[in-house]
Amino acid sequence: DFPVIAVDGPSGSGKGTICSLLARELGWNLLDSGALYRLVGLAARHHGVALDDEDALVVLAAHLDVQFGTSANQQEVSIILEGEEVTNAIRTEECGADASIIAAIGSVRAALLERQRAFVSEPGLIADGRDMGTVVFPDAPLKVYLTASAEERANRRYNQLINKGLGASLQAILEDIQARDARDMNRAVAPLKPAEDAICLDTTDQSIEEVLASVLDQARH
Ligand code: CDP
Repeated sequence: DFPVIAVDGPSGSGKGTICSLLARELGWNLLDSGALYRLVGLAARHHGVALDDEDALVVLAAHLDVQFGTSANQQEVSIILEGEEVTNAIRTEECGADASIIAAIGSVRAALLERQRAFVSEPGLIADGRDMGTVVFPDAPLKVYLTASAEERANRRYNQLINKGLGASLQAILEDIQARDARDMNRAVAPLKPAEDAICLDTTDQSIEEVLASVLDQARH
Protein backbone atom coordinates (compact mmCIF):
# COMPACT_ATOMS: atom_id res chain seq x y z
CA ASP A 1 0.00 0.00 0.00
CA PHE A 2 1.46 3.30 -1.13
CA PRO A 3 0.31 6.69 0.19
CA VAL A 4 -2.29 8.82 -1.55
CA ILE A 5 -2.80 12.57 -1.34
CA ALA A 6 -6.42 13.25 -2.26
CA VAL A 7 -7.02 16.74 -3.69
CA ASP A 8 -10.62 17.78 -4.29
CA GLY A 9 -12.36 21.03 -5.09
CA PRO A 10 -14.50 22.91 -7.59
CA SER A 11 -13.68 23.95 -11.16
CA GLY A 12 -10.94 26.57 -11.29
CA SER A 13 -9.71 26.07 -7.73
CA GLY A 14 -6.20 25.43 -9.05
CA LYS A 15 -6.29 21.69 -8.33
CA GLY A 16 -4.84 20.66 -11.69
CA THR A 17 -1.84 22.98 -11.41
CA ILE A 18 -1.20 22.17 -7.76
CA CYS A 19 -1.49 18.42 -8.36
CA SER A 20 0.97 18.35 -11.24
CA LEU A 21 3.46 20.46 -9.24
CA LEU A 22 3.01 18.17 -6.21
CA ALA A 23 3.61 15.09 -8.36
CA ARG A 24 6.76 16.63 -9.77
CA GLU A 25 8.04 17.85 -6.39
CA LEU A 26 7.48 14.51 -4.63
CA GLY A 27 8.20 12.30 -7.67
CA TRP A 28 4.81 10.62 -7.25
CA ASN A 29 2.29 9.43 -9.83
CA LEU A 30 -0.70 11.53 -10.82
CA LEU A 31 -4.35 10.61 -11.34
CA ASP A 32 -6.38 13.24 -13.22
CA SER A 33 -9.79 11.70 -12.57
CA GLY A 34 -11.60 14.45 -14.48
CA ALA A 35 -9.79 13.25 -17.61
CA LEU A 36 -11.51 9.86 -17.25
CA TYR A 37 -14.97 11.48 -17.33
CA ARG A 38 -13.87 13.61 -20.29
CA LEU A 39 -12.59 10.45 -22.06
CA VAL A 40 -15.91 8.66 -21.58
CA GLY A 41 -17.53 11.74 -23.16
CA LEU A 42 -15.17 11.67 -26.12
CA ALA A 43 -15.61 7.90 -26.58
CA ALA A 44 -19.38 8.45 -26.56
CA ARG A 45 -19.03 10.99 -29.38
CA HIS A 46 -16.79 8.64 -31.38
CA HIS A 47 -19.21 5.73 -31.00
CA GLY A 48 -22.38 7.78 -31.46
CA VAL A 49 -23.61 7.05 -27.93
CA ALA A 50 -26.13 9.58 -26.54
CA LEU A 51 -25.44 11.12 -23.12
CA ASP A 52 -28.71 9.75 -21.75
CA ASP A 53 -27.98 6.17 -22.83
CA GLU A 54 -26.83 5.03 -19.40
CA ASP A 55 -26.28 1.35 -20.27
CA ALA A 56 -24.09 2.15 -23.27
CA LEU A 57 -22.10 4.75 -21.28
CA VAL A 58 -21.40 2.17 -18.56
CA VAL A 59 -20.07 -0.25 -21.19
CA LEU A 60 -17.82 2.52 -22.61
CA ALA A 61 -16.56 3.44 -19.12
CA ALA A 62 -15.88 -0.17 -18.16
CA HIS A 63 -13.95 -0.91 -21.37
CA LEU A 64 -12.26 2.45 -21.92
CA ASP A 65 -9.10 1.72 -23.96
CA VAL A 66 -6.82 4.47 -22.69
CA GLN A 67 -3.11 4.92 -22.07
CA PHE A 68 -1.58 7.69 -20.02
CA GLY A 69 2.03 8.49 -20.87
CA THR A 70 3.98 10.66 -18.45
CA SER A 71 7.22 12.41 -19.21
CA ALA A 72 10.16 12.04 -16.82
CA ASN A 73 9.44 15.36 -15.07
CA GLN A 74 5.74 14.42 -14.51
CA GLN A 75 4.74 17.58 -16.33
CA GLU A 76 3.49 16.57 -19.76
CA VAL A 77 0.94 13.81 -19.83
CA SER A 78 -0.12 12.41 -23.18
CA ILE A 79 -3.42 10.58 -23.42
CA ILE A 80 -4.14 7.93 -26.04
CA LEU A 81 -7.76 6.79 -26.53
CA GLU A 82 -8.30 3.76 -28.77
CA GLY A 83 -4.90 4.36 -30.34
CA GLU A 84 -5.53 8.05 -31.04
CA GLU A 85 -3.81 10.94 -29.27
CA VAL A 86 -6.52 12.98 -27.52
CA THR A 87 -4.43 15.01 -25.05
CA ASN A 88 -5.81 18.34 -26.29
CA ALA A 89 -9.12 17.09 -27.68
CA ILE A 90 -10.46 16.28 -24.20
CA ARG A 91 -9.75 19.81 -22.91
CA THR A 92 -12.43 21.60 -24.92
CA GLU A 93 -15.43 23.26 -23.24
CA GLU A 94 -17.77 20.78 -24.96
CA CYS A 95 -15.86 17.84 -23.50
CA GLY A 96 -15.96 19.46 -20.06
CA ALA A 97 -19.70 19.96 -20.33
CA ASP A 98 -20.26 16.35 -21.50
CA ALA A 99 -18.03 15.11 -18.65
CA SER A 100 -20.07 16.95 -16.07
CA ILE A 101 -23.32 15.38 -17.39
CA ILE A 102 -21.78 11.89 -17.49
CA ALA A 103 -20.27 12.34 -14.01
CA ALA A 104 -23.77 12.62 -12.52
CA ILE A 105 -24.57 8.99 -13.50
CA GLY A 106 -23.89 6.69 -10.54
CA SER A 107 -23.35 3.51 -12.58
CA VAL A 108 -20.72 5.24 -14.74
CA ARG A 109 -18.91 6.45 -11.60
CA ALA A 110 -18.99 2.89 -10.24
CA ALA A 111 -17.56 1.55 -13.50
CA LEU A 112 -14.57 3.92 -13.14
CA LEU A 113 -13.88 3.22 -9.47
CA GLU A 114 -11.39 0.32 -9.71
CA ARG A 115 -9.63 1.91 -12.66
CA GLN A 116 -8.94 4.96 -10.47
CA ARG A 117 -7.74 2.83 -7.54
CA ALA A 118 -5.34 0.99 -9.87
CA PHE A 119 -3.35 4.24 -10.22
CA VAL A 120 -1.97 3.76 -6.71
CA SER A 121 1.64 2.71 -7.17
CA GLU A 122 5.14 3.23 -5.83
CA PRO A 123 6.12 5.63 -4.34
CA GLY A 124 2.72 7.30 -3.97
CA LEU A 125 -0.20 8.95 -5.78
CA ILE A 126 -1.54 12.48 -6.11
CA ALA A 127 -5.26 12.10 -6.88
CA ASP A 128 -7.03 15.10 -8.43
CA GLY A 129 -10.83 15.22 -8.52
CA ARG A 130 -14.17 15.85 -6.85
CA ASP A 131 -14.59 12.68 -4.75
CA MET A 132 -11.01 11.50 -4.18
CA GLY A 133 -11.20 11.93 -0.39
CA THR A 134 -14.88 11.04 0.02
CA VAL A 135 -15.35 8.00 -2.25
CA VAL A 136 -12.33 6.77 -4.20
CA PHE A 137 -9.60 6.97 -1.53
CA PRO A 138 -11.43 7.28 1.82
CA ASP A 139 -8.32 6.03 3.68
CA ALA A 140 -5.90 8.54 2.12
CA PRO A 141 -3.56 9.78 4.87
CA LEU A 142 -3.77 13.35 3.53
CA LYS A 143 -6.87 14.96 2.04
CA VAL A 144 -6.90 18.51 0.80
CA TYR A 145 -9.94 20.50 -0.30
CA LEU A 146 -9.03 23.52 -2.41
CA THR A 147 -11.50 26.31 -2.91
CA ALA A 148 -11.65 29.96 -3.95
CA SER A 149 -14.47 32.42 -4.49
CA ALA A 150 -16.40 31.95 -7.75
CA GLU A 151 -15.29 35.47 -8.81
CA GLU A 152 -11.62 34.64 -8.27
CA ARG A 153 -11.96 31.31 -10.12
CA ALA A 154 -13.67 33.10 -13.01
CA ASN A 155 -10.83 35.66 -13.09
CA ARG A 156 -8.22 32.90 -13.26
CA ARG A 157 -9.98 31.16 -16.14
CA TYR A 158 -10.45 34.49 -17.94
CA ASN A 159 -6.74 35.30 -17.64
CA GLN A 160 -5.78 31.83 -18.90
CA LEU A 161 -7.89 32.31 -22.03
CA ILE A 162 -6.60 35.83 -22.64
CA ASN A 163 -3.01 34.61 -22.23
CA LYS A 164 -3.69 31.97 -24.87
CA GLY A 165 -4.82 34.77 -27.16
CA LEU A 166 -8.46 33.64 -26.99
CA GLY A 167 -11.38 36.00 -26.56
CA ALA A 168 -13.48 35.60 -23.43
CA SER A 169 -16.32 37.18 -21.46
CA LEU A 170 -15.74 37.36 -17.71
CA GLN A 171 -19.47 37.42 -17.02
CA ALA A 172 -20.12 34.32 -19.16
CA ILE A 173 -17.26 32.48 -17.45
CA LEU A 174 -18.59 33.38 -14.00
CA GLU A 175 -22.04 32.08 -14.91
CA ASP A 176 -20.52 28.88 -16.29
CA ILE A 177 -18.55 28.32 -13.06
CA GLN A 178 -21.64 28.90 -10.94
CA ALA A 179 -23.64 26.44 -13.05
CA ARG A 180 -20.84 23.83 -12.85
CA ASP A 181 -20.62 24.30 -9.04
CA ALA A 182 -24.36 23.80 -8.70
CA ARG A 183 -24.26 20.59 -10.78
CA ASP A 184 -21.21 19.19 -8.94
CA MET A 185 -22.49 20.01 -5.44
CA ASN A 186 -26.16 19.11 -5.86
CA ARG A 187 -25.96 15.82 -7.73
CA ALA A 188 -27.26 12.71 -5.97
CA VAL A 189 -24.10 10.61 -6.35
CA ALA A 190 -20.70 11.63 -4.98
CA PRO A 191 -21.58 15.33 -4.66
CA LEU A 192 -18.62 17.68 -4.35
CA LYS A 193 -17.88 18.34 -0.67
CA PRO A 194 -14.85 18.18 1.61
CA ALA A 195 -14.20 14.83 3.32
CA GLU A 196 -14.71 15.08 7.09
CA ASP A 197 -10.98 14.79 7.66
CA ALA A 198 -9.93 17.07 4.79
CA ILE A 199 -7.78 20.16 5.27
CA CYS A 200 -9.65 23.02 3.59
CA LEU A 201 -7.56 25.69 1.91
CA ASP A 202 -9.18 28.86 0.61
CA THR A 203 -6.85 29.97 -2.19
CA THR A 204 -8.71 33.18 -3.10
CA ASP A 205 -5.81 35.39 -1.98
CA GLN A 206 -3.01 32.84 -2.35
CA SER A 207 -0.49 32.32 -5.11
CA ILE A 208 0.21 28.86 -6.56
CA GLU A 209 3.56 28.90 -4.71
CA GLU A 210 1.87 29.58 -1.36
CA VAL A 211 -0.71 26.83 -1.84
CA LEU A 212 1.96 24.36 -2.98
CA ALA A 213 4.11 25.19 0.06
CA SER A 214 1.27 24.60 2.51
CA VAL A 215 0.27 21.26 0.95
CA LEU A 216 3.92 20.10 0.91
CA ASP A 217 4.19 21.16 4.54
CA GLN A 218 1.18 18.94 5.41
CA ALA A 219 2.58 16.07 3.31
CA ARG A 220 5.88 16.12 5.17
CA HIS A 221 4.29 16.08 8.62
O1 CDP B 1 -11.58 21.55 -13.92
P1 CDP B 1 -12.83 21.26 -14.69
O2 CDP B 1 -14.03 21.26 -13.83
O3 CDP B 1 -12.99 22.12 -15.89
O4 CDP B 1 -12.71 19.81 -15.29
P2 CDP B 1 -12.27 18.39 -14.76
O5 CDP B 1 -11.63 18.42 -13.42
O6 CDP B 1 -11.52 17.78 -15.88
O7 CDP B 1 -13.66 17.58 -14.58
C1 CDP B 1 -14.64 17.56 -15.58
C2 CDP B 1 -15.98 17.19 -14.93
O8 CDP B 1 -15.93 15.85 -14.43
C3 CDP B 1 -16.32 18.06 -13.72
O9 CDP B 1 -17.21 19.09 -14.06
C4 CDP B 1 -17.00 17.12 -12.73
O10 CDP B 1 -18.40 17.23 -12.85
C5 CDP B 1 -16.60 15.74 -13.17
N1 CDP B 1 -15.71 15.05 -12.23
C6 CDP B 1 -16.29 14.28 -11.23
O11 CDP B 1 -17.49 14.23 -11.11
N2 CDP B 1 -15.51 13.55 -10.38
C7 CDP B 1 -14.17 13.60 -10.47
N3 CDP B 1 -13.45 12.86 -9.63
C8 CDP B 1 -13.56 14.40 -11.47
C9 CDP B 1 -14.35 15.13 -12.33
